[in-house]
Amino acid sequence: MWTCRSCIRLARQSTRFAPTSQTQNFSSHTSSPLLTKTNHFASNYGHLASRNLTTSSDSRPKRIVVGVTGATGTVYAIRMLEILREVGIETHLVMSKWALATMKYETDRSWDEVQALATKSYALRDMAAPSSSGSFLHDGMIIVPCSMKTLAAVRAGYCDDLISRSADVCLKERRRLVLAVRETPLSAIHLDNMAFLERAGATIFPPVPAFYTRPKSVQDLIDQSVGRMLDCFGIHLDNFERWESFRKA
Ligand SMILES: Cc1cc2nc3c(=O)[nH]c(=O)nc-3n(C[C@H](O)[C@H](O)[C@H](O)COP(=O)(O)O)c2cc1C
Repeated sequence: MWTCRSCIRLARQSTRFAPTSQTQNFSSHTSSPLLTKTNHFASNYGHLASRNLTTSSDSRPKRIVVGVTGATGTVYAIRMLEILREVGIETHLVMSKWALATMKYETDRSWDEVQALATKSYALRDMAAPSSSGSFLHDGMIIVPCSMKTLAAVRAGYCDDLISRSADVCLKERRRLVLAVRETPLSAIHLDNMAFLERAGATIFPPVPAFYTRPKSVQDLIDQSVGRMLDCFGIHLDNFERWESFRKA
C-alpha cells in the first residue's frame, strides 16, 4: 500500500478552509470606509456581487495529465497510473498510436486494462478534450515515456495531437511539465530540444536507474524511477528508498 504525504496534506487543507475561505460575498462590503470604490464595484460588477464566488483550487481533486508515447518503456506509465490510482490522484490519460504498439510488444497489458487504471482517457486526435485548454485546471502533465518525435513537436510548439497540445498548454500556463525522454545515444538535435525545453520550463527526466538502492529486480528499478518522477509534482511517496547517506556496514 502506497501512502502519499501530499494527499494527506490536501485533505487536511480542504477541511481547514471550507467553507468560509472558499466563499466571498462581495455585497457585504457596502459599510466599509471604501464606500465610493465599493459602489463603483457594485454598479459595474453587480452580476458578480449577486453570486457567491468560490475558488476551485481548494475544492477540486489533485489531478495529473499522463501522456504516453511510442518510446520503449511504457511500463513506467503503467506503474505510474497504478500508483496514482492507489493514492487517490485523478489521472487523465492520452496514448499515442506508437505507444499502444510498443506497449503491446513490451508488456502483457491490453489497452482496456491500462485505460481502466486512469480516471479518464482520451483519443489522441481528440483536440476538444479538457487538457487541450488552459482553463481546465490540473496539477501538471507527464509524458512517460517521451519519444524524440514528441519531444521535437513540443519544442516546436507543433500541436497536431492531444499530447503535444496538452504539453504546449502546460508551458504557456506555467504548469509543471515532466518529459521522461527516452533514447540512446542522444544526437545534437535531441540534446538541443531538451535544453531548449528545460529553459522553457519543462523538467527533463530521462528514466535513468539509480543503483545505490541495490535494486533486486526490474520492478525495483521501475518503482524507483516512478517515485522520483512523482517527486517532481510534489507527490512524495513514503514507500520507496531514498538516499540518506552511506550505510554503515
Ligand atoms: C519497439 C519500439 C521502440 C521504440 N523506442 C523508441 C525510443 O526509445 N525512443 C524514441 O524516441 N523512439 C522510439 N521508437 C520510435 C517511435 O515509436 C516513433 O518515432 C514514433 O513516431 C513516435 O511517435 P509518438 O511520439 O507519437 O508516439 C520506438 C519504436 C518501436 C516500434
